Amino acid sequence: MLLKLLFLVLLGQIRAKPVEDEPVCGYEACPATNFSTLNVHLIPHSHDDVGWLKTMDQYYFQDVQNVISTVIPALKQNPDRRFVQVETAFFKKWWEQQKDSVKQDVIKLVNNGQFEIINGAWSMNDEANVHYQFTIDQYTLGLRYLEDRLGKCSRPKVCWQIDPFGHSREQASISAQLGFDSVFFARLDYRDRINRLGTKTGDLIWRGSSNLGNSSDIFTSVMYNHYSAPAGFCFDIVCNDEPIIDDEESPDYNWKSRVEAFANFVREQASKYPTNNILVPMGDDFRYQAALNAYINTDRLIKGFELFPQTFEGKPIKLLYSTPTCYTKAVNDFVNSNNYKLQIKSDDFFPYADGVASLVVGYFTSRPASKRFVREANTMLQVAKQLAAVANLPYENENINSLKEAMGVLQHHDAITGTELIDVTHDYHRILHKGISDAVNAINPILSNLISGSDSLKLESCLLANVSVCLQAKADQFILTVYNPLSRVVSSPISIPVETENWKILDSNGDEVVYQVVPSITDFSTLVDETTSPNSLDFIAKDIPALGYKVYTFTKVATKPTKRITVGADGTTFEIDEVSGLLTSVTMNGVTLNVTQDFLVYKSGGRSQAYVFDPDGDPQRVASTVTVKKIEGDVYYGVVQEFSDWAKQIIKVYKNDSSYIEFDWVIGPLNIDDGGKEVISQFSTPLQTEGVFYTDSNGREILKRVRNQRPDYDYTDEQPIAGNYYPVTSKILIRDENLGVEMAILNDRAQGGSSVKDGQVELMVHRRIRSGDGFGLDEIEYGHGIVVRGKHFLVLGPVSGNGEKSLAAIERDVAQRKLLPPWVFITNQDVSGSKNLEYSSLKRPLPDNVQLLTLEPWSDGTLLVRLEHVLEKNEDENLSKEVTVDLSDLFVAFTVQELKETTLAGNIPIEENVRLHWPGSTNEAPPQAPRAPTDLTITLAPMQIRTFLATVTYNNL
Ligand SMILES: *[C@@H]1O[C@H](CO)[C@@H](O)[C@H](O)[C@H]1NC(C)=O
Ligand SMILES: *[C@@H]1O[C@H](CO)[C@@H](O)[C@H](O)[C@H]1NC(C)=O
Ligand SMILES: *[C@@H]1O[C@H](CO)[C@@H](O)[C@H](O)[C@H]1NC(C)=O
Ligand SMILES: *[C@@H]1O[C@H](CO)[C@@H](O)[C@H](O)[C@H]1NC(C)=O
Ligand SMILES: [Zn+2]
Repeated sequence: MLLKLLFLVLLGQIRAKPVEDEPVCGYEACPATNFSTLNVHLIPHSHDDVGWLKTMDQYYFQDVQNVISTVIPALKQNPDRRFVQVETAFFKKWWEQQKDSVKQDVIKLVNNGQFEIINGAWSMNDEANVHYQFTIDQYTLGLRYLEDRLGKCSRPKVCWQIDPFGHSREQASISAQLGFDSVFFARLDYRDRINRLGTKTGDLIWRGSSNLGNSSDIFTSVMYNHYSAPAGFCFDIVCNDEPIIDDEESPDYNWKSRVEAFANFVREQASKYPTNNILVPMGDDFRYQAALNAYINTDRLIKGFELFPQTFEGKPIKLLYSTPTCYTKAVNDFVNSNNYKLQIKSDDFFPYADGVASLVVGYFTSRPASKRFVREANTMLQVAKQLAAVANLPYENENINSLKEAMGVLQHHDAITGTELIDVTHDYHRILHKGISDAVNAINPILSNLISGSDSLKLESCLLANVSVCLQAKADQFILTVYNPLSRVVSSPISIPVETENWKILDSNGDEVVYQVVPSITDFSTLVDETTSPNSLDFIAKDIPALGYKVYTFTKVATKPTKRITVGADGTTFEIDEVSGLLTSVTMNGVTLNVTQDFLVYKSGGRSQAYVFDPDGDPQRVASTVTVKKIEGDVYYGVVQEFSDWAKQIIKVYKNDSSYIEFDWVIGPLNIDDGGKEVISQFSTPLQTEGVFYTDSNGREILKRVRNQRPDYDYTDEQPIAGNYYPVTSKILIRDENLGVEMAILNDRAQGGSSVKDGQVELMVHRRIRSGDGFGLDEIEYGHGIVVRGKHFLVLGPVSGNGEKSLAAIERDVAQRKLLPPWVFITNQDVSGSKNLEYSSLKRPLPDNVQLLTLEPWSDGTLLVRLEHVLEKNEDENLSKEVTVDLSDLFVAFTVQELKETTLAGNIPIEENVRLHWPGSTNEAPPQAPRAPTDLTITLAPMQIRTFLATVTYNNL
């Protein structure tokens, strides 16, 4: 008995602490390389999509569990063998099924560098449609999971984004800020690849930010061909390539000839790269399911190069089991000792064509409803994490983790992109829906306690308010709790489906709130199982406290109270042509401009599908006449436009907020008897834009685009439309430099967009395509093609702004408020006599140019806190300046005692973060002085994100 106890105690200790018999990992564990040989870095890897043709679970149980399970014993047999593990969503599933002895084996193999974690994020995220907040969160989740189980040697140094369809600059910046030293990918425009190989610039330095100086520089390596093993050298059971037969007696003996064939491939590749190192991926999708087979052959290949020596430009060719980390180190050693300056690139790798007329830009819009769902889930995730921090919940909260993991999965490059098969889409929706419900369950008691002092309030969310469904709002009385996840006070329009027209709304002070009720934009009853409400009620939730909420009470009344507050439109107006029914001009910020807006349809060409956009000719108008109806009310001025029975829109100017004009549209179902339709919202102006427009990179920095031009390679394309499509995660804008006037369109989900003609911008809002190759995009719900509802926000004015703020600063403000709009909870329970009908977690809001990007529990007594400066350095005279915030006496629920700065994912103390130096990469940003842990002030430069572990003590409330 005693022995058994002792055993358990020991086991407990082993579990708690990863084995550390002198771990030698990272660069120290790299195979020795030598300047006088050509080093061929063989990279055993398996590219495991977190859903695509199969659901995530199908892939795991049919494929991925075999990969990790067979790799581990194969690595134990030969200390030279390596494997790189990438997707943490799958690693978690595997790890949790293993017994302790296997776990210990894995830790040993991590600690000696054989089983190396690269990327380490929950999934290999897409780079076009993801917002940077999603990317940062999913790396944070993955890296934390790994480090908790595997220890420090699991910290990746490599961003391994081999499969996403084009690459964003923000991904490079985030990678650098995570402490990574390199980025690898395989997909770039085919002309760019040819050019880079020809000029030996496939290895380069990528400047991830135009604000952060060289702290965002990162070594980037473009793969030679694809991420597959060289043709003929897939030694996997799923391939039929010749194994290497080293038995000289055998009639099939082929050792020498296989070595020579491989050497020919190597020489070809080596002639295209700048140093004496090349990277050769040995793997592919879901490979290494019978890993031993692959390793035995690779062992033989390596040995073969010793027996039958091969050379390249007079140097011996040496094959090595290696990793991308070790390739990076070898290239770094070479460039430093030769003072060789790699090319420095400062734009991005969009758009991506994988062949002639094969513009992979369709996925910027594909599955638009899913793309919106992800945004909503993000808002809930931030709300949940904030409330968890306020309530001192532990990091390991199953319900909140469920949403974190769901969001991690959804960022995968076949999830948010919409390039997966339809059954897989449905599975993603299931995962996300479960994540949201779980998170709501986790925070319900917290909010209930804050509001009423007890657990008894059951707060629901109306996820289907967009299609006029909200069960609780059918009652004669209900309560809305409007929660604001931003760290500043905001006022926000709230829209809720209701049955009847007359209501009395009281805010948390008991003051009456103005509202307006109009018929629902369209009849949604065929889109849902639930019954829809005929009307939409809109009101402005005014001054919702930072990281806090306000409670509103709704009571149905017989007639509308007569009390009215009329709010002027503050110089923001628009005009509609009564004959055409279209928008004709917009006045904002002192500028009046002829702006027309219309919905147009591209007929899908033969190549259009989930990935590719291949329009057949110019777009045609949806309708030649548009019916319009003016809406009068106390909340907004507006018109309802009906383009056709499947295209409707309300244009609104909110009376309290003149900083944007809202376009609230409903598109669908699309009739595709003709093969396919791709619908755009197009804004046309007389602005002289000279081929230039601007789009954001993952919602963060803005990149300049020049029509029909690529910075890196000669571009002449026969596709004038698709070839100019870029991802628009948050905004697209055009500017007339002579007039000094700018117009920006912001969106509520990722979309593809372009400026195909001067003065014009378009955003693709919906696509439905019947296509033969399995990647058609025919989303059906309730018996017909899906309907999508969404919003665009137009900002117009002088570049210099409105006298208070630049136009860019106004756009940032709107973008933030639309990314993280308040979350609305509803209940039919009574809250009279409750304790807090209004609440803020902050004693004072943060400045307008700072956002509390993350607040979440991290470990006992510690919270993860991320602050960001939300402007770029040249955007606004005042707001772009450095800003300092003080975290002492800021939070209501707790007091910050100490702050320890870390890299972006929270896993590495900033002073432990040592990155490789690259010749030519020189810093322009001033070095930051080391901080004392008790220093609670944080200074942020433009676009800077700083991450801290905050030691806190909770206050008795
Ligand atoms: C480097 O490789 C060359 C050629 O194989 C060999 O002669 C030399 O000893 C090696 N140097 C080191 C330091 O390994
Ligand atoms: C704006 O449109 C009106 C009506 O079409 C036209 O008369 C006017 O010249 C236009 N203004 C500019 C600056 O293009
Ligand atoms: C309404 O929102 C839900 C949840 O985001 C989404 O699944 C649905 O497709 C949306 N409906 C429309 C018509 O956009
Ligand atoms: C950035 O510049 C500084 C100083 O010029 C240098 O020490 C550092 O190594 C550079 N960073 C990189 C990634 O090369
Ligand atoms: Zn993939």
